[in-house]
Amino acid sequence: MTDTFLANSAVINDFRNKTPGSARLHAAASDVLPSGIAHDSRMLSPYPIYVDRAAGPYKWDVDGNEYVDYFGGHGALLLGHSHPAIVAAVQAQVASGTHYGSCHALEVRWAELIRRLMPAAENVRFTSSGTEASLLALRLARAHTGKSKVIRYIGHFHGWHDHVAAGANSHFDGSAPIGTLAASSDNMQFLSADSLEPTLRALDANDDIAAVILEPGGASWGQVPLPAGFLTGLRAATAARGVVLIFDEVVTGFRLSTGGAQTRDGVAPDLTVLGKIVAGGLPGGAVAGKRAILEQLDFARMKAMGREKVAHQGTFNANPLAAAAAVAMLEEVATGEPNARADHAGHRLRTGMNQVLKEERAAWAVYGEASMFHIFTNPRRIALDPMDFDACSLGFAGLKGAKDAATANKLRLAMLVAGVDIMGAPGGLISAAHDDPAIDRTIDGFRRAVRMLKTEGDIPA
Ligand SMILES: Cc1ncc(COP(=O)(O)O)c(C=O)c1O
Repeated sequence: MTDTFLANSAVINDFRNKTPGSARLHAAASDVLPSGIAHDSRMLSPYPIYVDRAAGPYKWDVDGNEYVDYFGGHGALLLGHSHPAIVAAVQAQVASGTHYGSCHALEVRWAELIRRLMPAAENVRFTSSGTEASLLALRLARAHTGKSKVIRYIGHFHGWHDHVAAGANSHFDGSAPIGTLAASSDNMQFLSADSLEPTLRALDANDDIAAVILEPGGASWGQVPLPAGFLTGLRAATAARGVVLIFDEVVTGFRLSTGGAQTRDGVAPDLTVLGKIVAGGLPGGAVAGKRAILEQLDFARMKAMGREKVAHQGTFNANPLAAAAAVAMLEEVATGEPNARADHAGHRLRTGMNQVLKEERAAWAVYGEASMFHIFTNPRRIALDPMDFDACSLGFAGLKGAKDAATANKLRLAMLVAGVDIMGAPGGLISAAHDDPAIDRTIDGFRRAVRMLKTEGDIPA
C-alpha cells in the first residue's frame, strides 16, 4: 500500500487512534516476523489488529475494542469462537494427552462422521492442513492413473505447496512463482472456469491428464461462481475418461451444506480435499474419497496387488486434540442446526448490506451463498443494482481478476473503525453464533464504513 494511499485519510486516522496497542505490537512484530504477520492474508496497511480474546461471533483486540468477526478462523469456526461443546472436548482431551504417537478411538469416530456427512468419502486419510491434503490428493491421483498432468482453474486456491502455487492469487498465466520449480507449474494446465468448453477440449486433446481439481463452490469460496451445470458436466466428462475429479472443499466442506458442495449439488467427486471445519477449528485436514484410490496408502492391499504403496507421513496427522474438536464439531453439524442458523444469518447479512448500498446510492454489491459473503467494489465502475446483481455474468476477469486491493484495504480499516472485522477479498465467513444483534451491528457498521469511503471518494455513486 502506498504512502499516498495512507496519507490524509480520516479512516486511517480513526483506525490509528482506536488501536494504539496493536500499533505497538506490530512495531515489535515487524522486527521478528516478516511484515509482522504469520499468513499473507492477514496483511493490512498500516497494520493489522492484534487480538487477545474471542467468543461467539465477537473478538476483542489488545486495546479492548470489540469486533463482530468475519474471519471466523479463516473459515474454520462454523460454530463461532469457543463453542462450549468444542471447549469441553478439547479441555477433556488436553488432560488425557496431546499426542499419543499411536492410533486412537477418536480418529475412527472422526473418519466415520466425515463419511456419514459426505457419502463419497468411502475412505479417509488425515493430514495436518488443507495444503497437505491437496498435496496428497494430487499424489494419489497421479499414482492411481499413472499420468502426470492436472487441470486447474484460474483463481482457484488449493493451498500454498509448489504444485498449486501459480494461478490462485497471482501468476494467472500459470508461470512459476518465485522459489518454485517451473516443472511443478508446467505439469498444470490452467483453464478458465467461466464455461466448461475449454475443459472438454483439453480433456479430448491430452491423454496424460491425471486429475481435475477445483473449488466446487467457485474460486475463493464463490467469489467467482461457477456457471450452472458446470459440476455435473465436469463429473460426466472426467468419469468418461478415467480422470480423477478432486473437489477442494476446504472452505465449502460442511459449510455450503452439511455435506459440502458435493451433497448440495448431488455430484460425487473421486477425492475431496478437506481442512478448516473438518478439524473443529484446530489444525488439521483430510483427503476423503474412493476406496480404490485411497487404498494406495494401504500396506497390505498394495502388497497383495504387487504395487508400490503411496507414502504419506505427518507428525500431527489425526492429532488427538484436533480429533476431539473435530468430533464435537461434526456431531453438531450432523444435527443440521448450525448450518441452518449460519445460512439464515448469511441471507440476512447479504440482504441488509445490499439495502445499505441501495440507500446510500453506492454502486457496489454483496453476494455469496450459504454462510459466505463477498463485497464487489466495482473497480470498473459498471452500472449495477445491488439488489439484482448477477456475479456469474462477470466471470473471473470481472471479479477476482479485477480486484482493487487499495479499496479493499481501506474498506477493512473503515469496518474495523465501525467494529467489524472482514477478510481482505473483501468478504467474510459467517458462523452459527452470528445472531440477529451481531448481524444488525454489522449492517450498521457497514453503513458507517460506506459513508466514510464515500466521503473520501472511494465509492462510485
Ligand atoms: C479452498 C482452499 N484449499 C486449500 C486451502 C489450504 O488450507 P490450509 O490453510 O489449511 O493449508 C485453503 C485455505 O484457505 C482453501 O481456502
